[in-house]
Amino acid sequence: MIELQNVSFSYGEKPVLRDVSFKLEQDESVVIMGPSGSGKSTILRLILGLQCPQYGQVIIDGRNICAMRERDKQEIRKSIGMVFQDGALFDSMTVGENVGYYLIEHTDRTWEEIEGSVRQMLGFVGLDADDIIDKLPEQLSGGMQRRVAIGRALLSTDPKIMLYDEPTTGLDPQSTENVLELINKLTHERSISTIVVTHQIADAFNIADRFIVIHAGEKVFDGNLKELRDSTDERVAGFLAPFRNSFTGVAERDFLNTRH
Ligand SMILES: Nc1ncnc2c1ncn2[C@@H]1O[C@H](COP(=O)(O)OP(=O)(O)O)[C@@H](O)[C@H]1O
Ligand SMILES: [Mg+2]
Repeated sequence: MIELQNVSFSYGEKPVLRDVSFKLEQDESVVIMGPSGSGKSTILRLILGLQCPQYGQVIIDGRNICAMRERDKQEIRKSIGMVFQDGALFDSMTVGENVGYYLIEHTDRTWEEIEGSVRQMLGFVGLDADDIIDKLPEQLSGGMQRRVAIGRALLSTDPKIMLYDEPTTGLDPQSTENVLELINKLTHERSISTIVVTHQIADAFNIADRFIVIHAGEKVFDGNLKELRDSTDERVAGFLAPFRNSFTGVAERDFLNTRH
C-alpha cells in the first residue's frame, strides 16, 4: 500500500534521509520512532508527495507518487488522512468549521446540510458536539484539539491510510490515552492502515504491529515489539534507554495478552 524504496532526501545541501526503505501493507499499523530532527515528519511529507526524494521512490498503491500529474496526486491524497503536528487547526474558525472545512470548501452543500455530518463526526471522535461546535480551538484542551484534528482529517478524506505526526506530544496522560484509543479504534474498526510518528516512545507500544526506528536519517530498526526490546543495535538501545522502565512494563503486559 505504501512503499519507500531506497529513499534519500535533502533539503538543499542538507541531507535528511539516507537510503530508507520500508513497506506498509493494508490494515497494518506502524510506529516510526526517533529523536527530534531525525527525519520523521519528512517521511510523512514524502508519502503525501509534498516533497520528492532525490534518490529512490515513494510508491502509493502501486504508483510512484512523484511521477504523477498534480490532479492524480490530489486524488491519492483524498485517500490519506493527515493529522499534522500539534493538530494544526485554523484558529480563527470554530470547531465546527474546522471539522467541516473540506465540505464547506469543496462541495455545494449548505452549512445546514454539513452540520449534521460535523456533529456526527464530533460524536465519533468522542466529543460533545453541542458543547464545542461553536467554540474556537483555543477554548479546548490540547487533547480535545487533537481529536478535532482527527475528525477533520476523517471528514476531509475517505482515508484508507492515516498519518499522525506526534499525536500525543504535549498532552497529559488521560488525553494521551484518549487519543491513542481513538487511533486504535480507527485502525481496527475502519481497517485503516496507520503510520504514527513519535519521539515519545512509551506511548507507542500499544498501537502498532511494527516499529521502525530512524536515527539521523537512516532506518536502524524495523520489527515487532519483542525484536525491538531485544535489539542490540547501539542506536536503538540508546534511543530506548530513557524509556526502559515503561518499555519493559508494557512489553511484558503485552506478552501476557499474547498478541505476539
Ligand atoms: N523545510 C525545511 N527546510 C530545511 N530543513 C528542514 C526543513 N524541514 C525540516 N528540516 C530539517 O530536516 C531535518 C529533519 O526534520 P524533520 O523531518 O522535521 O525531523 P523530525 O520530524 O524527526 O523531528 C531537521 O534537521 C530539520 O531541521
Ligand atoms: Mg517532526
